Amino acid sequence: MEESRKKSRMVSHEEMERQREYTAWIRTENERYFTENGCRPRAFVLTLGCQQNEADSEKLAGMAMAMGYEMTQTPEEARLIMVNTCAIREHAEQRALSLVGQYKHLKAKNPELVIVICGCMVVQEHRINDIKFKYPYVDILFGTSSIHRFPELLCEKLRRGRRILRSDETEYLVAEGIPVHRESGFRAWVSVMYGCNNFCSYCIVPYVRGRERSRKKEEIVAEVRKLVAEGYRDITLLGQNVNSYGKDGGEEYDFADLLSELDEIEGDYWLHFMTSHPKDASRKLIDVMASSKHIARHFHLPMQSGSDRVLKAMNRRYDFEKYIGIVDYIREKMPDAVITSDIIVGFPEETEEDFEATLNALRRAKFDMIYSFLYSPRKGTPAAQMEGQIPAEEKSRRFDRLLAVQNEISLASNKPLEGKTLRVLCDGISKNNASFYSGRCEGGKIVFFEGEPSDTGKFLNVGIERGDTFALYGTVKR
Ligand code: SAH
Ligand code: SF4
Ligand code: F3S
Repeated sequence: MEESRKKSRMVSHEEMERQREYTAWIRTENERYFTENGCRPRAFVLTLGCQQNEADSEKLAGMAMAMGYEMTQTPEEARLIMVNTCAIREHAEQRALSLVGQYKHLKAKNPELVIVICGCMVVQEHRINDIKFKYPYVDILFGTSSIHRFPELLCEKLRRGRRILRSDETEYLVAEGIPVHRESGFRAWVSVMYGCNNFCSYCIVPYVRGRERSRKKEEIVAEVRKLVAEGYRDITLLGQNVNSYGKDGGEEYDFADLLSELDEIEGDYWLHFMTSHPKDASRKLIDVMASSKHIARHFHLPMQSGSDRVLKAMNRRYDFEKYIGIVDYIREKMPDAVITSDIIVGFPEETEEDFEATLNALRRAKFDMIYSFLYSPRKGTPAAQMEGQIPAEEKSRRFDRLLAVQNEISLASNKPLEGKTLRVLCDGISKNNASFYSGRCEGGKIVFFEGEPSDTGKFLNVGIERGDTFALYGTVKR
């Protein structure tokens, strides 16, 4: 009974086999293209949104490569363009639509170009209609639950030339065995679960990613083991709320147990995870972290607001007292832990008093860093219907005040690192300043230093000389 319930949440082997057959068909077509043109057809993937989407895009790229495409960074030279969208805020949706708009002229130049739009935005009915009617040159649309069927949908398009707008997002399953093309050779994403059951009143994710479902622990352990063996140095476990891991399987095996088991894997690597919901961030989890060898001492714990009234209206199911209790416990067990958070400014009916409670919460929690967002009403969520929406100018004013308070706290958390030596995973030449190399320490803080090409992907010891608001600066100890 238990086993059959588990199986029913999985995409079947037969289904995955079918997808491999479609993949092989397209590969043959692409081999022919190669013989005729002397180069492989190219594929371009553009990703908006969170790490979950980045992980999905690595699957899109993996499938495209298995189908005989070569990846490119230049949409102009692609025969296949995939846009993996996000719906978390209005801005993300507008960006996706404007990017897709820019591809119209590419299609006009090359009618054989196939344009695909997928991801969270296009699970929503009104966005499917936008694409259907306003973007007729988009060839394929599918939502987050159909990603494993991409080979089939592309095959159908190539064989029959029809537009495919697949909107029947009813069954959300776990698909194993999708090929992955990882962007980095030393940082990797590993999803441990998909979907969300929490329905925070502002959030679109539960509507576009379906209900929570966990991967089997054996699959996760095998994947992490393989990554470590391949030399990956930083592995981030992903889930909208990793604390719910395993709760859908009816077993007594939770996220803390998974972390303990993964921590046993021998090697020189860090294990990160995100995101952990404060309503069920357990002491057991923090204890496991504190006594582990590989779990990075970094806790991302989104607070959203410091006002109990607002937290209730957000349906977050904790109050500030409970929240700060977790922060204090993390600091008690791991005094050097980096704690980061998410804050939403301008939730409906947020008063000046509520907002000040958030500012005070920042002063009390002393996060190393926060990600802050202007509240963006999402169609179909309860908060979008609430009275008392805050005017845009007031939201921006509060946003600026929030940053001013946090910037001082961030600076105060980075200053004491001056004179210390931190272990840093080097990412290579900095994207923003080519005269520096950059990397991240265990807690995820950005560190700049003078490096060498061979440093990329390696752990370095960096003596920190300057701690600034947003970054640390230092010298490699060689
Ligand atoms: N599952 C994670 C959050 C994923 S979304 C968690 O619960 O912690 C990342 C962040 O986006 C959220 O923490 C929240 O701060 C922000 N966010 C979500 N919906 C939003 C909205 N409608 N407007 C503004 N920010 C939003
Ligand atoms: Fe959205 Fe809340 Fe789920 Fe996070 S826990 S994805 S904020 S509904
Ligand atoms: Fe992520 Fe955006 Fe979807 S934040 S889960 S890509 S709505």
